[in-house]
Amino acid sequence: MHTFQLNVDEFVDNSENYTQAVDLLNNGEIVAFPTETVYGLGAVATNEQAVKKIFAAKGRPSDNPLIVHIGTVEEVSLYTTNISEVAQKCMEAFWPGPLTLVMDVKPNVLAPSVTAGLDTVGIRMPDHPVALELLQTLKKPLAAPSANRSGKPSPTKAEHVFEDLQNIIPCILDGGMTGIGLESTVLDVTLDTPVILRPGGVTKEMLEAVIGPVVEPSLEQQKIESTPKAPGMKYTHYAPDAPVYLIEANKKAIETAIAELKPVHKVALLAPQNFEEIEADYYFSFGNEHDLEQMSASLYDALRSCDKTDATIILATATSKNGVGTAIMNRLEKAAGGKWYSL
Ligand code: TXA
Ligand code: MG
Repeated sequence: MHTFQLNVDEFVDNSENYTQAVDLLNNGEIVAFPTETVYGLGAVATNEQAVKKIFAAKGRPSDNPLIVHIGTVEEVSLYTTNISEVAQKCMEAFWPGPLTLVMDVKPNVLAPSVTAGLDTVGIRMPDHPVALELLQTLKKPLAAPSANRSGKPSPTKAEHVFEDLQNIIPCILDGGMTGIGLESTVLDVTLDTPVILRPGGVTKEMLEAVIGPVVEPSLEQQKIESTPKAPGMKYTHYAPDAPVYLIEANKKAIETAIAELKPVHKVALLAPQNFEEIEADYYFSFGNEHDLEQMSASLYDALRSCDKTDATIILATATSKNGVGTAIMNRLEKAAGGKWYSL
């Protein structure tokens, strides 16, 4: 299958490109499109055959449910029941935006594979002009996981999608680089106290200001059997080919580590721009170390860049866990499989 890329950047007249994408989706095909978080791989969420193509294209385990994307807030009642006051407040405050709400699913509406047998569904309204235009033209819900091969970092550029899925999917809508760069916050609002199943751009502090106390389990707590979790969080994630090790953002420590590793390794260093002069074999910048938004936007591109080198080990500097730092560290810890470099 040939994969064509359609440019939908704001400077071109792109109505024809949307029509092509909508036609493909209506014909049961899958299409990659940008959102404000990462690129998604969409299929009409009520079409089981189409949804199955997503799992095949990604190599995704069938027990990992998909997020349903909607183009208007009103649609939420078509696919869910028991919409609580907490859910209502979240939608008002954060939609459109990078917040997925896990709610009770309305039976027999969505394709069964979307929910992977659960009685809940994750729903969000994305805050990206291309995603919204696509959804509002299609007038149907789109089931869409991140548009990467399973296990790889999520795509923040159309070329990342192309690298992973060329000749496997028919079409990529290219809307340039995504803004946030990390996947949405997943919040389970079916529980008495809402639980963050995956940290993202909408932080615990932002949620608590609107709905009161929210539980955010650490990676350690998530290992405990009784802790609620997103089925997807048990799989290896966000990982480049070479092993990743976390390291403190300290020049002396990094220089010592590189001196130790150099005789046997090609070292890639992922670190903020003020670490640029350190002599690793490869260096990819996280941007300004005081700007967590910049770091989250550049993290996946930096991780993916390592795969284009012959680096045999990757050192990635840790960041603070303030604000979106929680989400950055969550992804870095997963990419590293929890490993820290020890001198
Ligand atoms: O920002 C995002 O959320 C992107 C864009 C494309 O919208 N999508 C995304 O989808 O990251 P995906 O499939 O890569 O991650 C969805 C996560 C998985 O960890 C999955 O297990 C969890 O959400 N999830 C989905 N439905 C769920 C449910 N009913 N209950 C618990 N977790 C759920
Ligand atoms: Mg994903």
